[in-house]
Amino acid sequence: MKTTIATLQAKKGTEKIAAITAYDALFATLFDGHIDVILIGDSLNMSFGGKEDTLSASLDTMIYHAQAVCRGAKQSFLIADMPFGSYPDTQTAINNALKFYQQTSVDAIKLEGGKERAEMISHIVKEGIAVIGHIGLMPQFVRAEGGYKIKGKTQKEVQYLLQSAAALQEAGVSMIVLEGVTTALAAQITQSLEIPTIGIGSSKECDGQILVWSDMMGLFGRLKPKFVRQYLNGTALIQEALKNYIQDVKSGDFPSPKESY
Ligand code: KIV
Repeated sequence: MKTTIATLQAKKGTEKIAAITAYDALFATLFDGHIDVILIGDSLNMSFGGKEDTLSASLDTMIYHAQAVCRGAKQSFLIADMPFGSYPDTQTAINNALKFYQQTSVDAIKLEGGKERAEMISHIVKEGIAVIGHIGLMPQFVRAEGGYKIKGKTQKEVQYLLQSAAALQEAGVSMIVLEGVTTALAAQITQSLEIPTIGIGSSKECDGQILVWSDMMGLFGRLKPKFVRQYLNGTALIQEALKNYIQDVKSGDFPSPKESY
């Protein structure tokens, strides 16, 4: 059965929401139906594109990956990231959000930003596009802020994020991703909202959790944030399989007569 906004919002306070990223049809198919939410995150620019940060992910790249994920996933709720620079003003944001709805079958788009983006978001929502907010540590601000910084350590940040969460809910977002937020603030924001919060590096106080798939499967070693729990040693497993394949090719064991025509 297809997961919808209504399904997800009904889970608040009763069942945690599980979310993961995917960037292609292959992995989307593996995750589909098992997990509530699949995010086509601009994190693909780092984990798959090999870039330093998410900032150079283009709209066309995000749409290409969203189309692939949509081909593979029919049941989980699908969210696509609006990349850096694709929502500088309301009209451009609306046009680019419309492109996601017209060229893919994602259920919602996600964009980073606090209360200063609330009005823009309300206009996108009015166009009939479901929007997911993203506040706290916002990877698209990594250069401007000089690194990835945990949020909620000062009273000013706490006030700003509480106001932002309220303003985004008022603007009509369906859920809010809380990234890199202290446990106390995650609890405060989550309790203050009617809509679900999805945490990443923001403690168990959120209504759900999301991880980047290649991080939790042990395939991305460049950054190892403490909030990532590794569920598979993907690197070791793949390298072992690769080693065996190379050995079989070199020894002449592969292909065997059974694997030949
Ligand atoms: O791009 C991404 O994968 C994300 C998650 C980290 C929430 O935005």
